[in-house]
Amino acid sequence: MKAVLLVGGEGTRLRPLTCNTVKAMVPILNRPFLAHLLAYLASHGVDDIVVTLCYLPDRIGGQFGDGSACGVKLTYVMEETPLGTAGAVKNAEPRLDGSFFVFNGDILTDIDLRAMMDFHRRSGAVATIALTPVEDPSAYGVVETAPDGRVKRFIEKPPRHEAPTNMINAGIYVLDASVLDRVPKGQPCMFERQVFPGLLAAGAPVYAFPTTDYWIDIGTPDKYRQVQYDLLEGKCASHLQSARPGGGAAARLDPSAAVDGPVLFGRDCTIGAGARIKGPAVLGDGCTVLDGSTVDRAIIWTGARIGRGATVRDCVIGGKTTVGDGCVIEAGAVVGDSVVVTTGSRVAAGQKVWPDTTL
Ligand code: GDD
Ligand code: MG
Repeated sequence: MKAVLLVGGEGTRLRPLTCNTVKAMVPILNRPFLAHLLAYLASHGVDDIVVTLCYLPDRIGGQFGDGSACGVKLTYVMEETPLGTAGAVKNAEPRLDGSFFVFNGDILTDIDLRAMMDFHRRSGAVATIALTPVEDPSAYGVVETAPDGRVKRFIEKPPRHEAPTNMINAGIYVLDASVLDRVPKGQPCMFERQVFPGLLAAGAPVYAFPTTDYWIDIGTPDKYRQVQYDLLEGKCASHLQSARPGGGAAARLDPSAAVDGPVLFGRDCTIGAGARIKGPAVLGDGCTVLDGSTVDRAIIWTGARIGRGATVRDCVIGGKTTVGDGCVIEAGAVVGDSVVVTTGSRVAAGQKVWPDTTL
């Protein structure tokens, strides 16, 4: 089966984590996000994938090449300026025919893609939209359906009190190539705001494929941590065996250090005397946690150093960042790459610290 992947966004809501990288490449269990997405697609029989790129294209193409290492065939289509979700797929039109998947490039899920394609073929839809329930639909595309599963309305990011349902667009579509006739060439255009409402207004058959399978959009720092907790706790099938806790490396642990719960260590991690690492947590390659520190549900990138007696909780710490002795990093904080948090400092709950700064 064929898919188009949308990975052209800048990932602004994930900053400062995307200051030095793109959203599709942020590490999830110490592997680029895209490696997980490609493993999922390959395991569901999607093996011919067109990647639509715009922002920092070399970061992705340079690492994944023709996709053979991931068991898929990858080709790349570049946008000079962002064309929006539908404009990006239109740009890939010469490589598409029949029915194909379109995937937002920032979701991880267990949705059964073969069942979705079968449903699309049986229903005679020109477009099928996967739906998932969420608590607050206002950050998503809300999809209202008739009892027979036909889509009645598509409302992108409505105010919370105006959302008619909590079933939202999961960012996975099966489209017939004919849908692209509605998309202008070389101009910004979005499925969510133009193409789907247009198809519905024209009475075209658009069907929903509702699921309760695991689903998450990793596009905010809280969700970025959550997906890793979920993978470590087995709530989402990890298609990358090497990323599971048992698949990580063994850390150099002082005999008095304690590790509780699922913790994934990269290579060459060192944990000092009396330090405590509470999972779910992830430490990238070459991380050091010095004596007496507590790391609790933190995601720590490559080469970071946590000083003595520090507390680092429910947060993300960027690569090569140094957290000084006795520092406290509070829940929801996001500290960028190469930051120096000086001895005894506190990073407040939810605070974002930009790369290369000294606090
Ligand atoms: N190639 C390309 N060009 N890709 C783009 C562009 C573009 O101009 N703009 C966005 N994308 C990619 C992003 O990289 C991302 O993978 C995907 O399209 C969706 O963009 P987001 O910016 O993450 O959208 P969102 O999360 O606010 O909303 C979308 O996803 C929700 C589900 O997570 C919408 O599709 C909602 O309707 C949906 O509910
Ligand atoms: Mg998103």
